[in-house]
Amino acid sequence: MARFTGKVALVTGAASGVGRATARQMTSEGANVYGIDIDADGLAVVSDELGEQFCSDAFDIRDREACHKAVETCVDRFGGLDVVANIAGVVRSHHVTDVDEETWRLIMGVNLDGMFWITQAAIPYLKQRSGNIVNVASNAGFMGQAYTVPYCAAKGAVINMTRALAMEFIKSDIRINAVAPGGMNTAMTENWSPPEDIDPTIMQTYIGYRGMAEPETAVNAICWMASDEASRCTGSILSVDGGLTAA
Ligand SMILES: NC(=O)c1ccc[n+]([C@@H]2O[C@H](COP(=O)([O-])OP(=O)(O)OC[C@H]3O[C@@H](n4cnc5c(N)ncnc54)[C@H](O)[C@@H]3O)[C@@H](O)[C@H]2O)c1
Repeated sequence: MARFTGKVALVTGAASGVGRATARQMTSEGANVYGIDIDADGLAVVSDELGEQFCSDAFDIRDREACHKAVETCVDRFGGLDVVANIAGVVRSHHVTDVDEETWRLIMGVNLDGMFWITQAAIPYLKQRSGNIVNVASNAGFMGQAYTVPYCAAKGAVINMTRALAMEFIKSDIRINAVAPGGMNTAMTENWSPPEDIDPTIMQTYIGYRGMAEPETAVNAICWMASDEASRCTGSILSVDGGLTAA
C-alpha cells in the first residue's frame, strides 16, 4: 500500500514515539516528511534512518513565529503541503495544588498552542491541495483523570478545537480530525513520574482492561485518517484506546 505517494506531510513530535513511527510509516508509503521536534539529536537519528524523504527542523513549537517559518520552509523544500500530523506533546503528573505556572504553561503550550500555531500556518497551503490535519488528542481529553489536570485540560481543548476547525472549513474540501489514543509504551509513559503519595486506586481506571499498547496502534489510525480512505471524515475524533473511554 502506498497511500502517500507524491504527498508532503508535516509531522510534529517526529523525534520519538508516535511521531517518529508516523514519519517512518508515511515515508514508507511514499510521502516526503518534514519532521519537527525540540529534540535535535532525536531528529538526526530519524533523518539518518529515513534519508532524502525526511527533512527536519528542531525548535520549540510553543514559538508561533518558528511554527509559521517551519511551515514555509516545508513548502519551499518539498513544493507544497498535503498532511499535517500534530503529534508533539508532553505530560507531567502533580497534585493540582502543586502545579506551578511554568508547568501549566508548558503543558498548554506544547499540547495546545503549538498545535494551533502549526495549524494556522498550514491551512492556506492545505487548501491549495485539498489536504488534511490529524491532531493527536488522548483518552485524557475525554476522561477526568486525576493528577494530570493541565494535560486533561489541554487534550480536551484539542478535541473541541478539532471540531471547531472542521466546522470553520466545512464548506471547503480540507479535513480536520483527531486520533485519541490510550496508554502506549513510549518515552512519555516510560518517563512518567507521579507524586509518591497519590491514591493508586483512582489511577486503575485509566489503565483499562486491555493494558498498554504499542505506538503503531495510533500510527495506523493517524495514517488512515490522513489518507484518502478517510475522505468522509472531518471533525471526527477516533478513539484508539482498547475500549478505555467506552465505559
Ligand atoms: N504515550 C501515551 O501513553 C499517550 C497516550 C495518549 C496520547 N498520547 C499523545 O501522543 C502524542 C505523542 O506522544 P508519545 O507517546 O509519542 O511521546 P514521546 O515523548 O515519545 O514523543 C513526544 C515528542 O514531542 C516532542 N516535544 C515535546 N515538547 C516539544 C516542544 N516544546 N516542541 C517540539 N516538540 C516537542 C518530544 O521531544 C518528543 O519527541 C502526544 O501528543 C501525547 O500526548 C500519548
